[in-house]
Amino acid sequence: MSILKVARLGNPILRHPAAPIPREQIESFEIQRLIADMVVTMREYDGVGLAAVQVHESKQIAVLEVSENARYPSKPRVPLTVLINPTLTPLSAEMEDDWEGCLSVLELRGKVPRYKNIQVSAHNATGDRVDFTASGFHARVIQHEWDHLQGKVYLD
Ligand code: NI
Repeated sequence: MSILKVARLGNPILRHPAAPIPREQIESFEIQRLIADMVVTMREYDGVGLAAVQVHESKQIAVLEVSENARYPSKPRVPLTVLINPTLTPLSAEMEDDWEGCLSVLELRGKVPRYKNIQVSAHNATGDRVDFTASGFHARVIQHEWDHLQGKVYLD
């Protein structure tokens, strides 16, 4: 496994919508290696989430994990999650503001409004369909990564 180079703001890859991954390619060596590398890269830089576009791969993959994290102290934990081709649906119009940072945007924090409760549908790392609801900080991290897959960053 390798720690990958993270694209910084200004790199055009962060501004292009990522391509969906055909179901039958999810278990390929290339995709599995990319997922493993994304996980070690996220952990190396103390991120709580990382999208493939941030490591120069225009693919709809995001990984997230919240454990003891110096960048986000006292946030609820989220187990390691791999989301492929995710779709999000707000469960209500309720939104909340909170601070966010991004491994592609150094030394900046911004207060961003996000939906409080969302429904998430995606494939996981083995290609199975997953459906779950997320709220609060968990929902915030997923919306932040989903934005990356659409070619957006939180500053938008
Ligand atoms: Ni980010």
